[in-house]
Amino acid sequence: MLPSERDVRYLESLYPPDPDLERVRAGMEAQGMPDIAIRPAYGRLLTLLVAASGARRVLEIGALAGYSAICLARGLPPGGRLISLEKNPDYARVAHAHVAAAGLADRVEIRVGDALTLMPALVAEPAHPSFDLVFIDADKQHYPDYLEWSLRLLRPGGLLVADNALMHGRVADPADAAPAVEAMRRFNRRVATDPRLVSTMLPAYDGLVLARVREG
Ligand code: DHB
Ligand code: MG
Repeated sequence: MLPSERDVRYLESLYPPDPDLERVRAGMEAQGMPDIAIRPAYGRLLTLLVAASGARRVLEIGALAGYSAICLARGLPPGGRLISLEKNPDYARVAHAHVAAAGLADRVEIRVGDALTLMPALVAEPAHPSFDLVFIDADKQHYPDYLEWSLRLLRPGGLLVADNALMHGRVADPADAAPAVEAMRRFNRRVATDPRLVSTMLPAYDGLVLARVREG
């Protein structure tokens, strides 16, 4: 059974207001951006995953307005770093403003461009430091490619997190053959079967993929 709206509201009501994240939601609305940032419970999960895994280098694919960037960056230790890739320069500007307003600009770098250009560039960087955690929440059609590049960028033991595995019921609908839906099916199947990964997929909200790169 999936949680009802009442259950979700109840759980949210337990937490104190979060002005930095409320500013992001308000800013998205003011800018006419789609309200597709992750839900608050998943934001808190991102913070927990970064903190609990001790991640110091985090990569995000798709910044939108900076909601998840703030959640990821909150979990970093002093000296930790989040690199967030965003294709839309207007979104990147908005995201940076929200991250700065949340007091996290010192540990977040937003790179503007296509992730399928920027991820290979990260692999090719002279030092090529690997990442402890990658969060994918961008163009659904490119998820299989983001996965391949993530596997090259993550260290053994690193974590992969991805939003929208279900695409609001479309992925499990056999009648839906849209390219983005087919891409998500390929992505999900690869995550579930790739021998390099240990994974689970949470069905609540819109499907969240959690995977760990095997060591050795
Ligand atoms: C939608 C939701 C998302 O979380 C996302 O990353 C992209 C699109 C949507 O509801 O359309
Ligand atoms: Mg999403």
